[in-house]
Amino acid sequence: MKIAVLNGPNLNLLGTREPALYGTTTLADIDARLRVVGAELGVDISCVQHNGEGELIAEIQGLRGRVDGALINAGAYSHTSLALRDAFAAAEVPFVEVHLTNVYAREPERRHSMLAPGARAVLCGFGADGYEWGLRGLVSLLRAS
Ligand code: DQA
Repeated sequence: MKIAVLNGPNLNLLGTREPALYGTTTLADIDARLRVVGAELGVDISCVQHNGEGELIAEIQGLRGRVDGALINAGAYSHTSLALRDAFAAAEVPFVEVHLTNVYAREPERRHSMLAPGARAVLCGFGADGYEWGLRGLVSLLRAS
């Protein structure tokens, strides 16, 4: 099984970006942990981060037929981008949406996700650990289907 891990805008800055909110774990740390968990689960993991919405869309389009599923933290695009949801639908890639913070306990503009209606599952508020739970949950869902 192959899983793509996608991160959106500003998540390359994890570690130093608003650490009181997002913690001090870097994206490289998260990706390294996911590769370890992937090895444990017998799953190939590929990790990318893009700041641009178009770059993320191109990445998702390119996943068609190449991966079994995706784990995505689309950052602020989660709240605005119908285009990202459409890209997953077009590519026919099942995905799990993850956020470090509990977006439902934050500003009103963060309490709606454009991705969620297309997601197999959504996790938020577990900090960096949420990526691991999201990966485990996604693999479990895919293996059950
Ligand atoms: C985030 C939440 C978003 O609202 C924000 O724009 C981010 C990070 C999270 O992981 O908590 O960039 O997706």
